Amino acid sequence: MRIAILTGAGISAESGLGTFRDKDGLWTQFDLAEVATPEGYGRNPAKVLDFYNMRRANARDAKPNAAHHALGRLCDTHDVTLITQNIDDLHEQGGAKDALHIHGSLFEALCAACGHVWPHRDDMSVRDVCPDCGTAGTVRPNIVWFGEIPYLMDEAVAAIRTADLFVSIGTSGTVYPAAGFVEIAQEAGVGTLELNLEASGGRFDEVREGAASVIVPKWVDDVVSAKG
Ligand code: APR
Repeated sequence: MRIAILTGAGISAESGLGTFRDKDGLWTQFDLAEVATPEGYGRNPAKVLDFYNMRRANARDAKPNAAHHALGRLCDTHDVTLITQNIDDLHEQGGAKDALHIHGSLFEALCAACGHVWPHRDDMSVRDVCPDCGTAGTVRPNIVWFGEIPYLMDEAVAAIRTADLFVSIGTSGTVYPAAGFVEIAQEAGVGTLELNLEASGGRFDEVREGAASVIVPKWVDDVVSAKG
């Protein structure tokens, strides 16, 4: 069975990383226009780098939860394409391979001058220099900001269209293009399942509500045992 999975911040919530739109979510504490747009970066790069330095430090300390580990197990037994909106590395720590980070990664840097991308786990500052083109002051997190084009979309959409099942986990389904993935699955006749703390309101064939660390391992056990 081929499974295409989309995850959002909700799967990392129980690992201590905030979500965006829940009560006390990140976007209730920060103005996303100032810290998650190219315009905000242009106006005040130091402020944007500090915002992601804080999130990177939190993500460095976070540990994968039972949901991340369950998806890692599923990748070992099934043909899974894991598409994540998350910029942490908890899916990789949980054993998933080749996750498609369509919103980028906290642990990569991008040079705004030459486009070079390299691994970067430490704090960033406006004094950083690109190791490829040598330009100073153009180093930013390799994260897709509002108004920018998500990564790996052709690969993600192709996997959804050719899957037997599309599963959405821990996302409010409010940010496109990821929010449109369930419609793409429906149009392609692919079965759709949502595993979320509460139903997001998207058009899914089945919705299971609950904490990811509880309902994702249960669902994976059901799938793995059904395979025999
Ligand atoms: N278990 C399962 N689901 C949970 C849990 C949990 N423990 N906690 C929260 N959720 C659900 C919430 O009910 C909500 O539907 O996770 C979802 C989180 O929604 P958002 O905060 O909107 O996060 P997400 O959907 O990932 O946001 C998408 O928006 O800001 C941009 O680029 C950012 O990738 C992000 C995108």
